[in-house]
Amino acid sequence: MVFHVLTLFPEMIREGMNYSIMKRAMEAGALHLNPVNIRDYTIDKHNKVDDYPYGGGAGMLMQAQPVYDAYKAVEATCSKRPRVIFLTPQGKTFNQSMAREFAAEEELVFLCGHYEGIDERVLEEIVTDEVSIGDYVLTGGELPAMVMMDTIARLIPGVLNNEDSAQDESFAGNLLEYPQYTRPEVWMDKLVPAVLLSGHHANIEKWRLEKSIERTRNKRPDLYQKYEEETARDRSKKLK
Ligand code: ADE
Repeated sequence: MVFHVLTLFPEMIREGMNYSIMKRAMEAGALHLNPVNIRDYTIDKHNKVDDYPYGGGAGMLMQAQPVYDAYKAVEATCSKRPRVIFLTPQGKTFNQSMAREFAAEEELVFLCGHYEGIDERVLEEIVTDEVSIGDYVLTGGELPAMVMMDTIARLIPGVLNNEDSAQDESFAGNLLEYPQYTRPEVWMDKLVPAVLLSGHHANIEKWRLEKSIERTRNKRPDLYQKYEEETARDRSKKLK
């Protein structure tokens, strides 16, 4: 998987992604990160990439030309037209199923805006997907792009150590993850649930599923409703 990131702050991307599992995945070659500095593509003699908005208003806008040329340089290296994700609070809200869909691509381009935004004309020309990471406003698209890359990358084979760990976790099948415990067996007078020490795998699985269901119902009633609807649908499919 290759992540191309069009940004005015390539170091922020390089640095932010260079830890822990993402760093290991890049070293192992499962992941390639290509931060592209939009400023390198300006034709302005003062290296300017922004200007005032027509019609007036607060702040500056990123100009179309450097963004477009940076994108074209990336596109020229791709075997097909890549999906171009523009990070914006106006986009579709990111979730785990979108992450799964993006993880099936071989290359993705993230376009990070800064200042008050980007000239609409270049967005019309190159963007295929508009994505928000939630209903709040950040100062730029770099953090949202990193949130998305982290989420997508861990779904790619070879990124996590244990292939199972991306399956058996929160949001798999619309359920939150069950509670987990490690040593010691007793801490602050609290015991690890006995079933987990029993070695009885079927009982452990059953207990975990029950806890997942209970947690989802209590903490995320919206998600629990989806879970119920989907299990009802699966059941009626089986009966047919
Ligand atoms: N840029 C600024 N705020 C954002 C958000 N919530 N999601 C994605 N991109 C953004």
